[in-house]
Amino acid sequence: MSEWLKVCRLDEIPRLGARVVKLGGEDIAVFRNGEDRVFAMRDKCPHKGGPLSQGIVAGNQVTCPLHGMNICLNDGKAIAPDEGCARTYAVRLENNTVFLQV
Ligand code: FES
Repeated sequence: MSEWLKVCRLDEIPRLGARVVKLGGEDIAVFRNGEDRVFAMRDKCPHKGGPLSQGIVAGNQVTCPLHGMNICLNDGKAIAPDEGCARTYAVRLENNTVFLQV
């Protein structure tokens, strides 16, 4: 069974950045892009575990701060020619509040 967990207000996430939420011992990065869309994925790059939350967001992608791999925020997949996939989570925005599906 899944439920929606209140994470924070939208303005508590830096635009083009992320905020880390701890869930069951796992770090989840909640991103905000330039159009105020929100995305969530495990804060671990599929390459060598870099903290994606510290990457730069552009459009619907984040660039890993360690070696520059680009990850799609929609599905967590590395953009070709890179390979790999980070686990994503459903998020929704309601009245300026961000909810994460757990
Ligand atoms: S750990 Fe992310 S690109 Fe290497």
